[in-house]
Amino acid sequence: MVLPLCSVMGVRGLQGFVGSTCPHIRTVVNLRELAEQHQNKHPRCPPTIVVDAMCCLRYWYTPESWVCGGQWREYFTALQEFVRVFTAVGIKLIFFFDGMVEQNKREEWVKRRLKNNKEISRIFHYIRSHRQQPGRNMFFIPSGLAIFTRFALKALGQETLCSLQEADYEVASYGLQNDCLGILGEDTDYLIYDTCPYFSISELSLDTLETVMLCRDKLCETLALRRADLPLLACLLGNDIVPEGLFESFRYRCLSSYTSVKGNFNKRGNIILAVADHIAKVLHLYQGEKKLEEMLPLGPNKALFYKGLASYLLPGQESPWVFQNPEDVITLNKEYIDPKSTIPEVLVTADPESSKQEVAMYIDPESGQEIPMCAGSESKQECSIPVYHESKRASPREADLECEPEAERKHGDLTKSQPEVKRQSTMGSDPEILMVARTQHVQAESYLVYNIMTSREIECSNTLEDALDQALPSQAFIYRPVRQRVYSLLLSHITDGADSFPAVKEWFVYAGNPLQHPDFVRPLQMNMPGGTPNLKLLWLNRQEPEVQAQRLDTLLACFDLSSAREELQEVEGPFKAFCCLLIYLFVQVDTLCMEDLHAFIAQALCLQGKPTVQLMDLQLEYVDSRAVQLGSLFVRGLTTLVLVNSACGFPWNMSEFMPWNVFDGKLFHQKYLLSEKGHSVEALVEQNRTQLTRFQALKSAVCKACVKENRRITSRQAWRSHHTGRWEPESSSSHRTSSGHGRSGHRQHWRDQGSGSRSYEPDQWRRY
Ligand SMILES: *[C@@H]1O[C@H](CO)[C@@H](O)[C@H](O)[C@H]1NC(C)=O
Ligand SMILES: *[C@@H]1O[C@H](CO)[C@@H](O)[C@H](O)[C@H]1NC(C)=O
Repeated sequence: MVLPLCSVMGVRGLQGFVGSTCPHIRTVVNLRELAEQHQNKHPRCPPTIVVDAMCCLRYWYTPESWVCGGQWREYFTALQEFVRVFTAVGIKLIFFFDGMVEQNKREEWVKRRLKNNKEISRIFHYIRSHRQQPGRNMFFIPSGLAIFTRFALKALGQETLCSLQEADYEVASYGLQNDCLGILGEDTDYLIYDTCPYFSISELSLDTLETVMLCRDKLCETLALRRADLPLLACLLGNDIVPEGLFESFRYRCLSSYTSVKGNFNKRGNIILAVADHIAKVLHLYQGEKKLEEMLPLGPNKALFYKGLASYLLPGQESPWVFQNPEDVITLNKEYIDPKSTIPEVLVTADPESSKQEVAMYIDPESGQEIPMCAGSESKQECSIPVYHESKRASPREADLECEPEAERKHGDLTKSQPEVKRQSTMGSDPEILMVARTQHVQAESYLVYNIMTSREIECSNTLEDALDQALPSQAFIYRPVRQRVYSLLLSHITDGADSFPAVKEWFVYAGNPLQHPDFVRPLQMNMPGGTPNLKLLWLNRQEPEVQAQRLDTLLACFDLSSAREELQEVEGPFKAFCCLLIYLFVQVDTLCMEDLHAFIAQALCLQGKPTVQLMDLQLEYVDSRAVQLGSLFVRGLTTLVLVNSACGFPWNMSEFMPWNVFDGKLFHQKYLLSEKGHSVEALVEQNRTQLTRFQALKSAVCKACVKENRRITSRQAWRSHHTGRWEPESSSSHRTSSGHGRSGHRQHWRDQGSGSRSYEPDQWRRY
């Protein structure tokens, strides 16, 4: 079974221990009853559950079909139901999403991506041999699910936040500081944090609102430990920061001296009991007299170990295991970033008072209203409870330069934290612009923009791509030129002395990428009269028509499709973004044919009028591996549109290109199979004359725009007679050497990148 997207794995062995060795730690609870009790105790606030959304995605995605690119309308309906059930019993939900992968978790992230690659090739093997979707045991969550779930929840009126560090840390902090009813998720780290109760999403029944609560105090009782010992136990067992292997021999020594081993426990369970016993019997004895490093074989991993311990300390909490050494406490207290604060880090070290005076305005992507940035989150806060402690926030500079212990400095490579990287790369950035980017990131309105601006590092998880299908390149390459122009837009204001913009580190999964290093990807200058527009103009200005037009120009320039402006103008409102994406795809990928275009357009049109149940009941004659890849390629395109649209100051209404409005995996697949077999356009649009007219209009817009870029879309028959079925650089590069538009014709084609390039600088870039 493919693991959840959750970037965390939690404490090694603890899930199994709780499941089999110590089942009494799990208690069935009824959330409705708990909410009533909570309401009696805290009458001023609605009972709130903090949801670790990344852990919940796979449980929320209930549609039967998952392989065709996602059943987005069904999914949206399922989320709506989830929210409805909680709202009906007066429980408020607040959703947290992972906004960053921290450096020390990259290794784990990479390991999972490589593992998922193997799962994906098994999925395609199955599809090719059975022409069916594999069983749920091979389930793989549709691409883009994490991103679009944020927008879906926001559309459903839910408070949705994107983290600035590990989401689990922010979830645990929020739960503690806001007296939440509990945390809903699936991560044993929530048993370790000293915070509000932890409920399992996997055990939740929406009908009864019953689930399993995993009880921290019962765990402590079983192990004869105190709550404050749990982080120590977690680090000795291995967690996301301290690798499991580091203390293996230590754990075996604990096991061999652990005398009260009971035969019916499994070995893994015994190890946990033995380590806990060592903490309770041996370490407690010397606590306060000896330092941890005198009692445990920390060796060169001392700094890492303390970092692991500190990762469980929520703002305001201290550990009795590090209190002896006040220096350590200061340094090791995790640098705390308040996700609700609208002041970016760069301003904290400057003059916070003066920065608060300034009321910058930005355009709210949903309402289109101009909003003062500092008011956004406060006004939504219904209770007057403090959201976060500010006192623990030390200036990062102090923490790094003055109080850094020797060990930490020596192992700087291991412990280097992301805030360090951030401070370097935001040098020269406009604080006002950064503030907007940060607010939009935290409020889950934008995608990747803040990461690009602050850490110049982004990642993209696995996509259902068939490594054996040589005719379709990976989405990582197809959309790369778009990202490169976005980089130049977002980083153009940075002046760090060098004459070219620095590269952005991309961790993108594609066939043949061992992910040992990120790809270093250079920004690519946009082809726009007057050069790259200023972000201040695009982001901060009112909804004046000229500025709105400039935003749209910038968006088109990011796709290098300024030539398509008139064609897109003709397209009816909600399909503009959809057609823009199709034009881009067809210009970039010459193996796409007219039958593919028909299928894409017909599914988008037919989707509009279809009730969800009809989409649910749709049966596919068989499943085709190429159509599977096209489905995920298209959805990745929609996520790219989200990035571009947010970088350009929201020229388009996001809701118009949310997948539940323009894409349904099964419906696309059905149209694809019909189209490939040569069925007529009338058949594809279900013999509806109105739809046929709309179909012709959209098709004509896409084809005309493609012709301007010297791309003639032909039918598969015609295509086959000229090609061997694989792309060949010679045969295809010849027909697109100049733009039909009198432009220089140096279109950045995905292929020009050279696949798998570790670091490259396109020729085009050098010329500018
Ligand atoms: C965006 O579209 C949605 C749904 O069509 C609509 O409710 C909303 O008002 C639109 N926003 C703007 C700014 O046009
Ligand atoms: C044809 O499509 C239009 C637009 O989606 C819809 O309103 C109409 O009901 C459809 N007509 C039939 C006969 O299904």
